[in-house]
Amino acid sequence: MKAKACLFDLDGVLVDTARFHYLAWKDLAQRLGFHFTEEDNERLKGVSRMDSLEILLEIGGIRLSQEDKILYATQKNSLYLTYIETMTPEDILPGALEFMKAVRREGIKTALGSVSKNAALILEKTSLLPLFDAIVDGNLISRAKPDPEVFLKGAGLLHVPPQSCIVFEDAVAGVEAAHRAGMKCVGIGSPEILKEADLVVPGFAGLDPGMIAW
Ligand code: G6P
Ligand code: MG
Repeated sequence: MKAKACLFDLDGVLVDTARFHYLAWKDLAQRLGFHFTEEDNERLKGVSRMDSLEILLEIGGIRLSQEDKILYATQKNSLYLTYIETMTPEDILPGALEFMKAVRREGIKTALGSVSKNAALILEKTSLLPLFDAIVDGNLISRAKPDPEVFLKGAGLLHVPPQSCIVFEDAVAGVEAAHRAGMKCVGIGSPEILKEADLVVPGFAGLDPGMIAW
């Protein structure tokens, strides 16, 4: 059977913004007086902004009022936005653009499945927007990954049943969300971290769209 739709996560899959998220959270942790490692950061991938802050505070053993939480999340986002502002199409990860174009030539539909509220800005800065048939971002959903909402909504907009969709994800929470949606998942990253993915590749470079037939 051939896939009818590909659903792409954004941060860490199509663009290297996962790095920017990490740098911004690390800066916040430093200001709160603790060190935040890249290993800690794996727990934040695919997780919403406020849930990420809760995990960060738990790691640092810090309690804050709701008011301060909103303040710190806003500060983190402001720093993150300064990184995003500098983005251009050059920041698309190697092979991602070519892969998306090849998939579309095969007649396979494409959707974005990201919980980021900054997704529209990133798609605009990188000129990726025209490559999507549907966009689902953090402004359209009420539950972040590992909840399957983001991917089910994408499949719904494309009118493709979940079992004919393939998700591309770099986050453990995203792989779980894909499976809970009843979809196959290709992990982008390391097999040690993305243990549950159906297939793991280091990136799109060299990934043949023929591989996504199963
Ligand atoms: C993506 C990233 C997460 C980030 C979330 C919310 O899923 O993987 O690290 O926390 O989006 O992003 P936002 O841009 O709305 O803060
Ligand atoms: Mg991601």
